Amino acid sequence: MLNPQVHQSKSAQTLFLHKPFIHGSAGSSFPVWSRPSFLPEKYRSIKATSSSSSSDNSNTPTTTTKTTTTTTRITTTAIPNPITPTPPPTTTTTTTIVTTEVVTKKFISVKATLTVTLTVGGFLSNLGLNRGLDDITDLLGQSLLLELVSAELHPETGEEKEKVAGYAHRSRRQEGEIIYETDIKVPVDFGEIGAILVENEHHKEMFLKEIVVDGLPCGSVHHSCNSWIHSKYDNPEKRVFFTNKSYLPSQTPSGLVRLREEELLTLRGNGQGERKSFERIYDYDVYNDLGDPDKNLRLQRPVLGGKEFPHPRRCRTGRPPCDIDPLSEKRSRKHWYVPRDEAFSEVKQLTFSAKTLYSVMHALVPSLEMAIADTNLGFKYFTAIDSLFHEGIHLPPFKEQGVLKALLPRLVNVMATGDDVLRFVPPETMNRDKFFWFRDEEFGRQTLAGLNPYSIKLVTEWPLKSELDPAIYGPPESAITNEIIEREIGGFATITEAIREKKLFILDYHDLFLPYVSKVRKLEGTTLYGSRTLFFLTPEGTLRPLVIELTRPPMDGKPQWKQVFQPAWNSTDVWLWRLAKAHVLAHDSGYHQLVSHWLRTHCATEPYIIATNRQLSVMHPIYRLLHPHFRYTMEINSLARDSLINADGIIETSFSPGKYSLELCSIAYGKEWRFDQEALPADLIRRGMAVEDPTAPHGLRLTIEDYPFANDGLLLWDAIKQWVTDYVNHYYPDSILVQTDEELQAWWTEIKTVGHADKKDEPWWPELNTPEDLMGIITTMVWVASGHHAAVNFGQYAYGGYFPNRPTVARTNVPTEDPSEEDWKNFIKKPESALLQCFPSQIQATRIMAVLDILSNHSPDEEYIGEKMEQAWAEEPVIKAAFERFKGRLLALEGSIDDRNANSELKNRHGAGVLPYELLKPFSQPGVTGKGVPYSISI
Ligand SMILES: [Fe+2]
Repeated sequence: MLNPQVHQSKSAQTLFLHKPFIHGSAGSSFPVWSRPSFLPEKYRSIKATSSSSSSDNSNTPTTTTKTTTTTTRITTTAIPNPITPTPPPTTTTTTTIVTTEVVTKKFISVKATLTVTLTVGGFLSNLGLNRGLDDITDLLGQSLLLELVSAELHPETGEEKEKVAGYAHRSRRQEGEIIYETDIKVPVDFGEIGAILVENEHHKEMFLKEIVVDGLPCGSVHHSCNSWIHSKYDNPEKRVFFTNKSYLPSQTPSGLVRLREEELLTLRGNGQGERKSFERIYDYDVYNDLGDPDKNLRLQRPVLGGKEFPHPRRCRTGRPPCDIDPLSEKRSRKHWYVPRDEAFSEVKQLTFSAKTLYSVMHALVPSLEMAIADTNLGFKYFTAIDSLFHEGIHLPPFKEQGVLKALLPRLVNVMATGDDVLRFVPPETMNRDKFFWFRDEEFGRQTLAGLNPYSIKLVTEWPLKSELDPAIYGPPESAITNEIIEREIGGFATITEAIREKKLFILDYHDLFLPYVSKVRKLEGTTLYGSRTLFFLTPEGTLRPLVIELTRPPMDGKPQWKQVFQPAWNSTDVWLWRLAKAHVLAHDSGYHQLVSHWLRTHCATEPYIIATNRQLSVMHPIYRLLHPHFRYTMEINSLARDSLINADGIIETSFSPGKYSLELCSIAYGKEWRFDQEALPADLIRRGMAVEDPTAPHGLRLTIEDYPFANDGLLLWDAIKQWVTDYVNHYYPDSILVQTDEELQAWWTEIKTVGHADKKDEPWWPELNTPEDLMGIITTMVWVASGHHAAVNFGQYAYGGYFPNRPTVARTNVPTEDPSEEDWKNFIKKPESALLQCFPSQIQATRIMAVLDILSNHSPDEEYIGEKMEQAWAEEPVIKAAFERFKGRLLALEGSIDDRNANSELKNRHGAGVLPYELLKPFSQPGVTGKGVPYSISI
């Protein structure tokens, strides 16, 4: 009810609401309802509710009466009155009248419930809710400050509505979680809650899983957070969480536009300074952190990323430059920075694979190195290799007894004496056929159904010829002649027919490796060749190895050397073939780990993740589509830079190219990597393994019908593509929405020009103008993170665990290259010793076996593609239905793969002692199972 007022000049109006205000981070104010005496001085004017003290917890709108005292400056001017006499019209008086306004406003009481996940203690644990100061904060009911943000602007002023706030107090504890609650009175005209700002009043960060607001007319509103909330003492900026509803930028509710933009600015940072562990800044840098020249000049490595060594970018950590090499970043002895929400290890179970991998590298490997002091010591007998699976290796006593066993229960056994023993579990390949590795048909089969199905190519040109400079690398012509091939396939076809009928295939590691032969041969304990291996497609649809050519370029005053090896019917040539095969397998092993696995999945994906966080709001539907495919990848990649791909790390010390391993990765990126060919169909076409055929399933006709990786991969690819298509069509019914989506366009531009900056001028980058363009781009990213990675990752122990099947390094030259009389004599006398000497040393083999075991492992809380629906997807009926269909297709894929593996016609995946091809089966039990496709690259 208003008191009578006279004319009120707006400019002179002053309102005194009997309601205290506090300024939020955005400069707006909000009403509060009680005043705890323990509030700091600056908050003394605030009142905050907590449910325990609130008596009104109903949804009935409440009426709050407020008295408004208005001071109005009124100017009255006497006007002549024709009826009554008036005073002289010359006097102007100014009067101040104090009025009291009573505003009646209706509120509803809502309850906000916050779920905080208790962090897992353990080997890496150093964070989480701690006792002490934070307990007191909880006791005072002042744990988390919430501010509700209206999705709408004020209809009259066009400004943001006042936020409403409350302090959540600790309410109860349930399994692994703590629940915080608060009741907040929200004006009935507040509109939809679009976002919630959260301030963590504790001194420690907390992991906020979810906020649910109940009591609104529209029902419960969920905000999936799954995020670390920094302490306000570390960073006073409040965190913002939007609702689970997705919006294109142009459709953002008016009240959230500013917050959406500001949140992205926060995530981009300013590119300055060293990143702190609690920060969430996503930025780019080159790979200048692999070397450690300050420790030893021997550990200096070139910068990867730039003209000389093109390379995808990594996450910027901002550590200071090395003293010796200012282009390189100092190594850190602590856990490396990744944006806080990328470091999930605290909330994943103790068996989280990254954590286990960390344990292998920081606890087991040093122990092994102490147990096997001679780094060059090879295995003297094959039985000594077998003993790794039986007797095992006694490890020196660890600091605390039983720790290694607790960390690595599958690998480490504790003897009655208390000694730790490293004992490997026999890989499934070996269980089925102890001599699987020895057979040539298995060598051929593994190019189609093994760990690296990404290298085999159709031969389309003949004769084979190198593209390298003959002046440096010698004659480019291959030594593999028509006569040699026709002698092998004479019964079936001539060379011309074989090529025309697409019967000849190749593993080509010639031009990639040859330029590094001379450098690598200067390193201790390794050697290198360029290699070509040819296979013939038999009438049964299997690949028969025909020839191996090893090449050494001119070096050390010696001319080019090359030799062709063949399966033979005399003992000397059989053993030479086995040695040549060991070299090719080491090449394939290196290429697999460096290119098919690390470069094309882990490394190429990191810039997508950085760009997605910098350019797409969490409200963006494409952010929400991609997010599960990007989980854990930055953390595992940072761990890789720390201990796997670093100077003198596991890769360099275990693979043939040694310290040049990552340089080779860069060369392969420069020569071979194309985004458009990362799509499975395009990759198969590029390698001649398929041609487009609209009448064939998937629109492709495979060159080898029984190509298990491609057969299963295309089914998975199609399922992903359909899901992505349904999703994209829902949000982008029209091309114009793609073209005008400024976040999406900035995202794609940043991926092309910053994340993959060294490829920015390539003409093959897909355009992003239509929903179809977007579907192609997203399907490719999702495939790489899920199917591609699973195919090259989870079979690592099955195929590499018994290392004679895939030695990571071939340490000695073949005995026919410049043989000394003594070498040749030794080879003739005991060829097995020559092969064992060529294989990895004991320390190289066991270190790699331990790492491959962990890399092949699924943790109990692995997140398989299509298994669990994201909350945001579940809340959108069209998307929910599309996801259910996707899941149905994946379940059907499981059945199809089982059927195929049971089909005796498919000899590349079925047969006596043959390991079925299950790597693209979407689901799996925990452990080393050789199947299961996680959403993302998490190991
Ligand atoms: Fe991996």
